[in-house]
Amino acid sequence: MHRETVLTPADLIWPLFVTDGSGVEEPVTSLPGVSRWSVDHIAKRAKEAVDLGIPCIALFPNTQPDRRSDDGAEALNPDNLMCRAIKAVRDACGSDIGILTDVALDPYTSHGQDGLLDEAGYVVNDDTVAVLVDQAVTQAAAGADIIAPSDMMDGRVKAIRMALEMNQHPNVQIMAYAAKYASAFYGPFRDAVGSGGLLKGDKKSYQMDPANGDEALREIAFDIAEGADSVMVKPGLAYLDIIWRAKQEFGVPVFAYQVSGEYALIEVGAAAGVGDRDALLMEKLLAFKRAGCSGVLTYHAPRAAQLLNG
Ligand code: PBG
Repeated sequence: MHRETVLTPADLIWPLFVTDGSGVEEPVTSLPGVSRWSVDHIAKRAKEAVDLGIPCIALFPNTQPDRRSDDGAEALNPDNLMCRAIKAVRDACGSDIGILTDVALDPYTSHGQDGLLDEAGYVVNDDTVAVLVDQAVTQAAAGADIIAPSDMMDGRVKAIRMALEMNQHPNVQIMAYAAKYASAFYGPFRDAVGSGGLLKGDKKSYQMDPANGDEALREIAFDIAEGADSVMVKPGLAYLDIIWRAKQEFGVPVFAYQVSGEYALIEVGAAAGVGDRDALLMEKLLAFKRAGCSGVLTYHAPRAAQLLNG
């Protein structure tokens, strides 16, 4: 009777990794229980999400190595893995599922950075934004419902919003990775999309310093002013204070990304006897709701939904 916070399957977004081929399931070693799926399987996972009451999936491609390049041009190929997966999910599920797509170049570049590099290897903001705009329009044309720029370039939300309007996609939303930290918790994700081994250096010139909270609010304010429909804080649990402050300050829908390293630590910890896996994962997901989240991107989405559905 006194319970203040409720978690339901409708609060969950399920990130899924796409790989080439058909009939393929490749387990990701550093993410126990998570696999890369070929496009045909992705459609089945999306149907599973619908049946579980999960309203949205997030797609990430493991681009074939021979399609990665310095400029990440494969991101703009209307027949790339991402676009084929979007179409397969739409064919299988119609409008019963939301499709959120990641905008950033790291799954397509031969250097694993999210943007284009200058001669010194520095990620250049404005040239990158121009490519991200085309990437977003390509994904929207394939049928994405929500464009989620995870690149952390400045000014990209406004540029993407304008391009969506001008290309007849006025109803496609933007969920901005607004406060994304240069975190040590992304390792298993980089394995999953195949960019980990390629990445030299770090992403500290565009992702945020974990020491900064006020800066996160400035980043979030920019993205809202530029036209974001919702904002994301990433990683999740170590940044609950940012989620709380963002919700208090702006009152917009705030989402958390419980990232790959956070997920893996729960799985590995439970396997080592730290506690009951289901209890551990549900307690953490509830914490996001208590901090003010509208929803959570989590690899635990299917298991959490099963538990919530009894
Ligand atoms: C990259 C991107 C990353 C994640 C989502 N999009 C990793 C990075 O910035 O290197 C991380 C997600 C996770 O760890 O689960 N654009």
